[in-house]
Amino acid sequence: MGLELQYKDGQTPLDEEEKEGLKIKSISTQGELDEFEQLNIEKAIEWTIHANLKSERILTEKFIKDLHKKMYGDVWKWAGEFRITDKNIGINWIQIGIELKNLIDDTKYWIENKTFSPKEIAIRFKHRIVAIHCFHNGNGRHSRMMADIIIESIFGKEIFSWHKSNMVKADETRKVYIKALREADNGNINPLIKFAEN
Ligand SMILES: Nc1ncnc2c1ncn2[C@@H]1O[C@H](COP(=O)(O)OP(=O)(O)O)[C@@H](O)[C@H]1O
Ligand SMILES: [Mg+2]
Repeated sequence: MGLELQYKDGQTPLDEEEKEGLKIKSISTQGELDEFEQLNIEKAIEWTIHANLKSERILTEKFIKDLHKKMYGDVWKWAGEFRITDKNIGINWIQIGIELKNLIDDTKYWIENKTFSPKEIAIRFKHRIVAIHCFHNGNGRHSRMMADIIIESIFGKEIFSWHKSNMVKADETRKVYIKALREADNGNINPLIKFAEN
């Protein structure tokens, strides 16, 4: 069986390094991990619905970490903590704090000055934060949830639909999403906005 097929079946065993930070020791495959994470994320969504989040609270390092912890804290020990190693995606880990501060400041400026539409502000934020890649894992889902929180709780508009996918599986939808991210890297944010809206 090819690796990709194994992945799609969710049967790929986790390696030792991945298991290291796991809180639930019975999880042994990627599929089981995806399910536990999804349950945790659904709890986090419930939390955001009842938390009555205000703009001043959302655009802070503390909230960004708290949200990650809410999304993954039942599953991963390091949830809510910035990574302290480099990855193939994301900036040098030492720069995370300062780059996140720059992003937060830019976003506040965009909001105050209406530099872009609400949708564009939320999606630009999402693109920049996933490029920073604050955490060891879970950055993609966290960045999309941040965009949803920004559009809903800061601008009072409906959340994005993200192709009705959590993009965990390496399917066609995920390919289109990664392509849109690459275009955003090259300065064209529109495909990612379009992707989020559909
Ligand atoms: N070339 C790329 N390949 C895969 N993911 C990328 C790439 N560039 C940016 N990303 C972003 O990184 C995310 C994957 O990071 P990860 O921390 O594993 O998040 P998650 O576990 O939520 O998928 C993707 O969802 C995407 O938003
Ligand atoms: Mg991941």
